[in-house]
Order: sequence, then C-alpha cells, then structure tokens
Amino acid sequence: MKLTIIGTGYVGLVTGACFAEMGNTVACVDIDKKKVDGLKQGILPIYEPGLESIVINNHKNGRLQFCTSLSDPIAESSVYFIAVGTPPGEDGSADLRYVLAVARDIGRHINSYAIIVDKSTVPVGTADKVRTAILHELHLRGVDVPFDVVSNPEFLKEGAAVEDFMRPDRVIIGTDSEQVRKAMRDLYLPFMRTHERLQFMGVRDAEMTKYAGNAMLATKISFMNEIANLCERMGVDVENVRQGIGSDSRIGYSFIYPGAGYGGSCFPKDVKALIRMAKDHDFEPRLLDAVEARNEAQKHVLFEKITRRFGARLKGLTFGLWGLSFKPGTDDMREASSVVLLHELIGAGARVKAYDPVAMAAAKHELPDGWFKSGQLKLVDEQYSALEDADAMILMTEWKPFRHPDFDRIRKIMKIPVIFDGRNQYDPALLRKTGFEYSGIGR
Ligand SMILES: NC(=O)c1ccc[n+]([C@@H]2O[C@H](COP(=O)([O-])OP(=O)(O)OC[C@H]3O[C@@H](n4cnc5c(N)ncnc54)[C@H](O)[C@@H]3O)[C@@H](O)[C@H]2O)c1
Repeated sequence: MKLTIIGTGYVGLVTGACFAEMGNTVACVDIDKKKVDGLKQGILPIYEPGLESIVINNHKNGRLQFCTSLSDPIAESSVYFIAVGTPPGEDGSADLRYVLAVARDIGRHINSYAIIVDKSTVPVGTADKVRTAILHELHLRGVDVPFDVVSNPEFLKEGAAVEDFMRPDRVIIGTDSEQVRKAMRDLYLPFMRTHERLQFMGVRDAEMTKYAGNAMLATKISFMNEIANLCERMGVDVENVRQGIGSDSRIGYSFIYPGAGYGGSCFPKDVKALIRMAKDHDFEPRLLDAVEARNEAQKHVLFEKITRRFGARLKGLTFGLWGLSFKPGTDDMREASSVVLLHELIGAGARVKAYDPVAMAAAKHELPDGWFKSGQLKLVDEQYSALEDADAMILMTEWKPFRHPDFDRIRKIMKIPVIFDGRNQYDPALLRKTGFEYSGIGR
C-alpha cells in the first residue's frame, strides 16, 4: 500500500519506518526542512533503539521517502496519517493547531478517495473537526472528493517504540466504515502474525481510549508516589511495600515504581487534556486533578531533600547529576523531572555537572544557554566525571549503566559521599554500610 505520514517525530518516523519495513511505500512529510534534509542523508532527529537501521535501509531501497510538503508528488497516496504534535494549550487542552493545519492541507491536495488517520493523541470529537476542516478546503476548491476520517491512536513507548509498533499489544481503530475497517486490517495484519489484535470501535471511543490508557498509567505512578511519601514519614520502606502489592496479580508490578515524578511528552499533557475535557463537560475530575497535583509536587521532592540536607542556599556546592531524559531509552527531555530539579538547584546558586548516555545533545539544545555560559551547568561526557569533587550525587534517570556502578570509585572521587536516589535504584543498607549518606524516595 502507498502511505503518507505527516509529522516525522517520535510517532511519525517510527510509524513510517515500520510500515515501510513491512513492504509498504511510505512518504514521510515534515515541515521541518532540517529534519527532512538530515533524514535524506540517514541522520535521525531522535534516538530510538533499532530505528536507525530500518530508516536507512528502507530509504536506500526506495520504500521510505522524505519531503517537506504534501504538494510533493511522492506524498500523494490514499491513506494519510496525521502524526503531528498536540502540545498542551494554556488551559491544559490539547492544542489542535497543528492537526487542523494538516487537515486543511490534506483538503487542498486530495483528488480521489482517501482515508485520513488521526494518529496524534487528540481529544474526543477531533475527528469531526478534521472532517470539517477538510470539507471546507474541498468546498473552496469547488470539488467533491470522498474521504473517511479514522481514529488510530498510537500506544508506542519511547525507548521501545520500534518493538512496540512491530509487536503491538493491540491496535485501536475507531471507525464506522466497513471500507476503512478492511483497509486498516490489511495494513496492520502483518504486525500480528500470531493472533489478531485489532480492536474496532467508534471514533469517539477510540479517541477516549488513548487518554484513558495514559491517565490510568499516570494514576498508578502518582498513587505509588503518594504511598512512598507516606511511607517515608512512617518509617516504612516503600520498596518492600511495592513488591508486596505488585505480587498481587490484580495489581501487578508495572508502573508502581516510586520516583521523582513522571514526565515526557505524553502523560503530563494527556492528563491535563483529559482534565480539561472533563471540565468542559461540567464534570469535576477529582481523581485526575489529584494525579496531576501529586505529580507536580513529586517533581520537587528531591530538591526538598537536598535543601533539608544542605540548607536553602546552595552557592559553592556542586552536584553530580546522572540522567537527564525523562526516562531511560530515549533522548526526549520534554517535561523531564531533571529540568525542574535543575531550575531549582541552579536557582539556589548550585553548580551541576550532568551526564546522560543519549540526551546530551537534546539537553544542550533545550536548557537555557545562560546556565552553560555562567558555568553553573556543565555537561560531561563520562558518568564518573560528573561526580568528581561533587558534594552530592543525584540519580534522576535509571539508565542501565547507572544501576550497578562502582561505588568504591564513587566514594573516592566525591567530596562528600551523599546520594539522592530519585528512582530507588540502590540498596540503602548497603550504601550506608559503605559510608554513604543515602536518601531515596519513600525509604
Ligand atoms: N512520543 C510518544 O511517545 C507518543 C506516543 C503515543 C502518542 N503520541 C502522540 O503522537 C503525536 C506526535 O507526538 P511526537 O512525540 O511524535 O511529536 P514530535 O514533536 O516528536 O513530532 C511532531 C512532528 O510534526 C511536525 N509537524 C508539525 N506541524 C506539521 C505540519 N503542518 N506538517 C508536517 N509536519 C508537521 C514537527 O515538525 C515534528 O517533527 C502527539 O499527539 C503525541 O501525543 C506520542
């Protein structure tokens, strides 16, 4: 099948590359010329395990092409995936500006029956807005081209995006059209060789499913963070509690790790957008409000521990920070807890030396220039260098190389052996026995 993917970010590029890998001919369109030029030369704009080789191979064999506009002949097809960003607007609602701009653009270009797939995470009712935008452009052109709008939210996880797309738990398709159901089934069946995992439902149901999924995961995290904070005040080790409840199959182990708050480009904005949807429908989302409030507060927990230990003024102190991305396996720093902590540390006069296995370029790009110029933030290219002469170490992202480090070496190179473990990776008893001051979350 010939496909066009509009938006070549984490979702669009993975979608395009994986469809091309299955034999489809795919055009990826992005308005960011630099991104497109880079991709044509095999330079990927993001880090995602396994993605580079799929992109490069499929580009070489001609099944995956890149361009900057739907007017490019390679972008003509009968299935258009909208995979642009839906960042939070000022009131928390999903900003549909980019999605609707793409919809209008599609309306300006289609000449024969087309399926328009909303892959971006969009509020309930967006498919209707996309349809209206396309109809408006067709009307301006004075043409009558048939089309369907289908909701196909994406569930991939950054850090395992290729794996998730290639072997999805389920693929949600929201449509009322039999023709669309058939086309979507044809497209996705190659990704489900063992058994079919397509779930068909109404368009609005599909739109809501994505938000409900992310809100549920965010709820699990915030719940556990709340329990952790309580444990800390009551002389309880939350790690034992986590294992104790995780072993209950009704609860399970996933997404109940306490930490320094969830970040990334999805959970924070999707919870906010769902809260907005609820309020727009005169419904008070008490639970979602609490999930969000707990997470906002959780991002400050490490700094509170640091100031309890060192006082409010941190001038003259140096902190070694391990991990900048919002989670391991990605270079994405959107809404990362590390950024909140950096603002607090640097605001209080501290110096920070930071290391991340893949997010250094993203950090250089996204963090304020002034921090680098003033020398308050230094990015170092090796994990132990971040800890040399440090007054404390902070673990922010649980990348694998940080999980079992050489603590003898760490104790020798640090000025004071103090560890703030924002992801409960280390054994407090063992560290205390070897002379470290250890502080985790809820322990
Ligand atoms: N990142 C994730 O893990 C993830 C997972 C599931 C769903 N989603 C959802 O998928 C959507 C995309 O997320 P992302 O993380 O891939 O975003 P992203 O910011 O990485 O990429 C979006 C891309 O769209 C491009 N773009 C914007 N306007 C355009 C236009 N008019 N024409 C062509 N290109 C345009 C941008 O240049 C950018 O490259 C969002 O709605 C997000 O919520 C993301």
